[in-house]
Amino acid sequence: MKAIRIHEFGGPDQVRIDDVPLPRVTAGKVLVHVHAAAVNPVDWMIREHIYNPAGADRVPLTLGQDFSGVVAKIGARSGTSFHEGDEVFGETWGSFAEYARVPASDLVHKPKNLDFVTAASIPMPSLTAWQAVVDTAGARPGMRFLVHGASGGVGAFAVQFAKLKGAEVFATASAPSFEYLRGLGVSRIVDYQHERFEQEVHDMDVVLDPLGGDVQARSWSILKPGGMLINLVGEIDDDAARQAGVRGVMFGMRYDTEDLREIAALVERGAVKPHVTQVLPLERAREALDLNQQGRSHGKIVLEVAWGEAGA
Ligand SMILES: NC(=O)c1ccc[n+]([C@@H]2O[C@H](COP(=O)([O-])OP(=O)(O)OC[C@H]3O[C@@H](n4cnc5c(N)ncnc54)[C@H](OP(=O)(O)O)[C@@H]3O)[C@@H](O)[C@H]2O)c1
Repeated sequence: MKAIRIHEFGGPDQVRIDDVPLPRVTAGKVLVHVHAAAVNPVDWMIREHIYNPAGADRVPLTLGQDFSGVVAKIGARSGTSFHEGDEVFGETWGSFAEYARVPASDLVHKPKNLDFVTAASIPMPSLTAWQAVVDTAGARPGMRFLVHGASGGVGAFAVQFAKLKGAEVFATASAPSFEYLRGLGVSRIVDYQHERFEQEVHDMDVVLDPLGGDVQARSWSILKPGGMLINLVGEIDDDAARQAGVRGVMFGMRYDTEDLREIAALVERGAVKPHVTQVLPLERAREALDLNQQGRSHGKIVLEVAWGEAGA
């Protein structure tokens, strides 16, 4: 089968298309015939050796995590109610390939009315947004949220979950994303390339910060006393948070199939819409990673896997 792999950590030049044997289906695991796999910033961070949790810390390494596909084979003692032929989605290591090995307990049924491309775009960004906006911030009517990077993978779901729970939402974004965000009912979009958000919005209950650094430093002053900044990358400046009389929360998403099923149900009934902006064939994974790393995706890029030739 074809797999998008690196043999050394580093830049775009490390990304190769390799012919490799099918993953072995060991006990408790399932082989999934991948139909689509979405690009997340963590995929190029892993390639560059910036962030390498266990499972993504050794080469050769097949890149990619979010996927959708069809169950091709079920390993021994998997204790799963899934069957061969079931349409599934979720997260696993090595999804940029024609087949991926997935722990049986990590599978979720793909929403029936969604195509594979749309389903693959959901897991990591939606789980992050759900656990940040709903579980951590407790979004509810009367609350005001500023979502930085609002048209990105996480931001687009964060805006929609906060709105769904009745909160008012403000956003930072660049021009290509304005129309999309207006459609979501954002109260005020601040153009981060030409405006200073701290001069445009204030009295926030929650700031969702997927950028850190200077964006974090400028965000403390726009929070209400007792407000909360949820940081997705880097460190929290605890002194700055204390001085501003607000809370800084370092956030880490955990993969949770129950949360993903709940999100899938919202997407299935049209209450939340994934934001896919580009679809490329698996062979163009390197370019897809570059587009995201250079800030040119303005939404989700999904890799489509031409299948049927690899043979299970
Ligand atoms: N802690 C965790 O568990 C966790 C989980 C998932 C993701 N993350 C991290 O969260 C970050 C965002 O992930 P993502 O999937 O949403 O990325 P993404 O899809 O690449 O989106 C990033 C967005 O940031 C916007 N942006 C760039 N510079 C900006 C600035 N100065 N001010 C405001 N917005 C700016 C861009 O908006 P425009 O397109 O409008 O220009 C872009 O859409 C990444 O660093 C990722 O690694 C952390």
